[in-house]
Amino acid sequence: MFNQSANPRFSLQGGPEPDLRREFAQAVRLGLGGEAKELPCRYLYDARGSELFDEICLQPEYYPTRTEAAILKNISGDLLAHFATGPQLIELGSGSAEKTRTVIEALLARFGKGCFLPIDVSRSAIEASANSLLGDYPDLVIQGVALGYLEGLQQLERVPGVPRLILWLGSSIGNFHRPEAVEFLHTLGASMQAGDRLLVGFDLRKDAQRLEEAYDDAAGVTARFILNLLTRINRELGADFDLGQFQYRANYDSEIGRVEMWVESTMRQRVTLTGLNWTVDFEAGERIHMENSYKYSPEEISDLGTNAGLLPLQSWTDPADLFCEALFGLQGP
Ligand code: TRP
Repeated sequence: MFNQSANPRFSLQGGPEPDLRREFAQAVRLGLGGEAKELPCRYLYDARGSELFDEICLQPEYYPTRTEAAILKNISGDLLAHFATGPQLIELGSGSAEKTRTVIEALLARFGKGCFLPIDVSRSAIEASANSLLGDYPDLVIQGVALGYLEGLQQLERVPGVPRLILWLGSSIGNFHRPEAVEFLHTLGASMQAGDRLLVGFDLRKDAQRLEEAYDDAAGVTARFILNLLTRINRELGADFDLGQFQYRANYDSEIGRVEMWVESTMRQRVTLTGLNWTVDFEAGERIHMENSYKYSPEEISDLGTNAGLLPLQSWTDPADLFCEALFGLQGP
């Protein structure tokens, strides 16, 4: 269960692989077995998927990553000024943790040393990011957890007297339906103590064209990222998805305020999943819904916090109002 690497400044814990595999199999059976087919987005991030996602973040159309990085760079000092004692720096879905560097630097600048606790479903992403961060920051300790958000959070030990700064960046909150986002923040709040802070990155509502381009880049990286999940099902569950017969699509619904992402079967076809002893039929044009990315207005952000029982403390945007970092604390005395 616990993997101690050679570096004394690095530890990594996580669930055993076989469980993940069974969980993946169940999720695929449930998702493709229903009336409206869908697959949960957390499975997009295998080793290859995590690589492709990093590539998405570099695409010219995908403005969120570089916009958020610029905001973080500006606010890292202000953020750490909320703490009299060096906080544990926790990140949900840390990925490559590139954007986190400015926060880590502010933490080290203010307190001399620091502990970073990345939580990510991709073990390889944690290992690669830790490797790079440990090399660059000799005063940093990293305790990673290769699990989903909440299972990961449960594994973390609270150090008495040490506050927490939880980062949830990249508009990942947008992957939750709005009521689920409230519930999830409420759950995060239940793990927080007075003095802890939660920083959430929100993508702001904007025009449809800009959003649809961001989620369907001209180089086709997002399409490859999404279709990689079918490749993963082929590999891990012995399926025979023909990637030439499925097409990626993204659409922004401006009323709901969400980008919807799906793959469409280009023809009537049957897919066999030998690992599940199972076949799935697709009509021509039938969709597998992969992901939603909800966009927020500033009012929706503070309402979300309040409805989740949190106190919206401060928020920051970029000059073009594309993206917003919102800081929450606990309500009450
Ligand atoms: N949370 C990111 C977002 O919604 C993730 C993301 C970016 C994404 N592009 C994607 C997820 C394409 C699935 C497909 O912006």
